[in-house]
Amino acid sequence: MAEGPKISERVGKISKSAIHEMTRLSKDVDDVAFLSWAKPTSDTPDHIKNGAISAISEGLVGGYSENAGLPELREEIVKKLKRDNHVDAEISQIMVTVGAIEGLAAAVLAVVDPGDEVILPSPTYSTHVRQVVIASGKPVFVPTNEEKGFALDIEGIKNAITARTKAILFCSPNNPTGTVWSEDQLREVARIALEHNLMVITDEAYEYFTYDGHEHFSIASIPEMRRNVISCYTFTKTYAMTGWRIGYLHADEEIIPQINKAHIPLAICAPVVSQYAALAALKGPQDCVARFREHYLSARNVMCERLDRLSSIFTYEKPSGSYLMFPKILLEEGKDSITFCKMLLKEGGVSTTPGIAFGPTGQGHLRMSFCVPEEEINKAFDKMEVYFR
Ligand SMILES: Cc1ncc(COP(=O)(O)O)c(C=O)c1O
Repeated sequence: MAEGPKISERVGKISKSAIHEMTRLSKDVDDVAFLSWAKPTSDTPDHIKNGAISAISEGLVGGYSENAGLPELREEIVKKLKRDNHVDAEISQIMVTVGAIEGLAAAVLAVVDPGDEVILPSPTYSTHVRQVVIASGKPVFVPTNEEKGFALDIEGIKNAITARTKAILFCSPNNPTGTVWSEDQLREVARIALEHNLMVITDEAYEYFTYDGHEHFSIASIPEMRRNVISCYTFTKTYAMTGWRIGYLHADEEIIPQINKAHIPLAICAPVVSQYAALAALKGPQDCVARFREHYLSARNVMCERLDRLSSIFTYEKPSGSYLMFPKILLEEGKDSITFCKMLLKEGGVSTTPGIAFGPTGQGHLRMSFCVPEEEINKAFDKMEVYFR
C-alpha cells in the first residue's frame, strides 16, 4: 500500500475548522443568510487607511521593523494600556504581533512543553484549542456555568489543576458565548494562578464591545500578576482591521525575549504597513470604536428579539459583550450540533457555526454572529421562522 504524506501527529490531531467548513458549504446555497463569521463587516476607517498610504508613499514599509515592532507604535500602545486597561507598561514589555492570533500562538509556544496541561474555560474559541495542540500541550476543558450566563466555575478550575498544569487560557469578552467575566471572577482566577504559579494567557480581542454596564477587566492590571500574565490584544475587532493582521501582546520584560524566540520563526515581525496603520488608529479619532459598539449593541438587541420569537426552538443567555451569541437548541435534532447546522443551512438557508467546534461543552448549541447588518439578521430569522414552522 502506498504510504501517505508524512504529517506530524500534532497537526494530524487537529480537526478541520467548522467555521471554514460552514463557509465552504454556504457557497452552494442560494441566497444564504450568513451568521457564521466573527468578522466585522464594516470597512477600516479612512484615517487608518490614510496612515498606511502615507507610510507607503514615504518609503517606510519595504523593510522589516524591530521584531517587537516599531518603537513609536509600542509607545502609543503603552499609553492605550494605561488609559483603557489600567495597566502600567513600558515599551520593553510590548510585542507587536500578526493579529492577536500570532501573539497567542507565540505565547503558548513559549509557555507550554509537550504534555503540559492548559485549562480552557469552555465553551471556548476553537483556535485556542488548536494552539495548545500545536504546542503538544493537553487542552483541559472546564465547563462554564450556562445557567449563570456562562460564568466561570472557579471551583471547577481549582479542581482541574494537576502537577502538569501550566497555564489558563481564555477570552473575555468571550467567543462564542459573549460573556464578559466580572472583575471579581477574574481576580479569583488571578489568585489561583498565583497560588499554583500558573501562567494566565488572556485574549482580549473584544475588549471594547461590552453592553448593559458590564465592563472589561484586564488581569494584567493586578500588580502582583506581573510575572504570571501574558495579555493579547488586537486591532482586528476594535478598528475593523481583520485583513491587516495586526495585534500586540503585553508581558513582563523577562518574558518578552522568550516569546520573541517563538515570534521570530513564526513572523520575524508584524507587517510594517499594518504597523503604520495601527499607529494611525491609536493616534486618530476614536469615535469609530463607539460607532461600531453602538451598531453591535443594536444588532444584538434585534437578534435577541428575534430569538424570543423562536422560544420553542432555542433558549439563550443574552451576551454582555463581543458580537457573538450561543443559543442552546431545544429540539431533539439539536443534540448533534454539526448535523443540525448542516440541516439548517441546506434546508433553511441559514449559515451558523456548530457549538461542538468550541469544545465538548458546546454540543447542543450553535453560534450566531451579530457583527452583520441588521437586515442580514432579519433575513436569517425570517428564514428560520419559515423553516421551523
Ligand atoms: C477571541 C478571538 N481572538 C482572536 C481572534 C482573531 O484575532 P486577530 O485577527 O487579531 O488574529 C478572533 C477572531 O475571530 C477571536 O474571536
